[in-house]
Amino acid sequence: MTVSTFRPADVVDPDLHASGEVHRLWRWMRRHAPVHWHAPGDLPGFWSLTRYEDIRRVYQDPALFSSARGVLLRPTRLGEDPGSGLTMALTDPPRHRALRGQVADRFSERCARSLADEMRAEIRSVVTRAVASGTCDVVHDIGARLSSHNIGRLLGVPPQDRERLLTWTTEAFASGRPLTSHLALMRYFIDLMYARMEEPAQDVMGMLVHNEVDGELLTETEILLGCENLVGAAENAGLSMAAGILALAAHPEQWRRLVRERDDGLLRTATEEVLRWTSSATHSMRTAVRDTVVGGRRIAAGDRVVLWIPSANRDESVFPEPDRFDLGRTPNRHLALGTGEHVCIGSTMARHQMRMLLETLTESVAAVEPAGEAEPLRSIAVNGPAHAPVRLVPR
Ligand code: HEM
Repeated sequence: MTVSTFRPADVVDPDLHASGEVHRLWRWMRRHAPVHWHAPGDLPGFWSLTRYEDIRRVYQDPALFSSARGVLLRPTRLGEDPGSGLTMALTDPPRHRALRGQVADRFSERCARSLADEMRAEIRSVVTRAVASGTCDVVHDIGARLSSHNIGRLLGVPPQDRERLLTWTTEAFASGRPLTSHLALMRYFIDLMYARMEEPAQDVMGMLVHNEVDGELLTETEILLGCENLVGAAENAGLSMAAGILALAAHPEQWRRLVRERDDGLLRTATEEVLRWTSSATHSMRTAVRDTVVGGRRIAAGDRVVLWIPSANRDESVFPEPDRFDLGRTPNRHLALGTGEHVCIGSTMARHQMRMLLETLTESVAAVEPAGEAEPLRSIAVNGPAHAPVRLVPR
């Protein structure tokens, strides 16, 4: 694409996202059309926001920008998201806060620390297997496996069933259809839900079933949509880990630095930089509740607003040399995990997991080498590789 062919309408072209060229379009939009009206077509009309400060402002104002009418773009023919107004991600305060409070304990720093040994052991075993196999697919064999096992552990899926969960979620994400249409997966959650009704446990399913929200128990539909919300959101973690390994393969000097200087400080900044660089969640959506103005443009009540997260994370007014992958970057106030009321509830867990993965790689791997062409996802909701053969050379 040359400069003269930049068309903001292409911002929803999945091929442009797959090619990575969308970053050039976003850079152009940040400069020339930071709040741009995207006319309706297959998708409803919406405002595209590409600048960091505008995006942050929308995230931080849930009273003005509602999540209850959907947080992801959906073709108009599909109608509203079935979770609208029901799940944590798709409600506004005060209901949102109550739903989040129902399960918040399992996502706390304390809980992440209590799971740290188990998570580290799992990461070591997954990396050891990937190293031993010569060439692995970092998407399936590392990213998806770790994130699926982790969400399984949180929900209360017993260890022996977590590989099945991985198979089902892999099929579901590859199909592009909603998780609720995957019968084996939903049947499994229905069985787990009834098991928890009979025998309570301190896991997320147990909390969804037994903890009251505003003085009432959730309905079965709400519980299952809550599981779907969590499992769907956790896909981001797998993609970030896989894309992070690819970024290390593409930047050998950064990999060498990580191995050489591996200390708490660098592991912390490296975790944040991988999250910023990979920005695996591509957008969030909100609906304006009242007329307002953003970036000098009038937004009417009822208008949708789409926040392009990877664009915020490459905004040159916030990040010096935004297109440089720099594991020591600081400060790094990226928005990869959102911000404000709906900031990612899995963020503590995702950070711990990413950091432990980086640490484990530096302990057991001498070099990270691409072993073939990575195939990118064709999606405007999440981004990263669909498949990526990599050789992890043993230390
Ligand atoms: C690198 C990994 C991850 C990324 C990049 C990511 C990204 C995000 C973003 C951008 C949001 C804000 C959405 C919005 O405001 O509309 C969010 C919310 C959320 N994330 Fe994550 N996420 C990650 C990992 C996880 C994990 C591991 C889980 C579950 C264990 C999870 C569960 C959720 C949930 C349930 C929400 C909705 C929270 C709410 O509405 O209050 N995420 N995530």
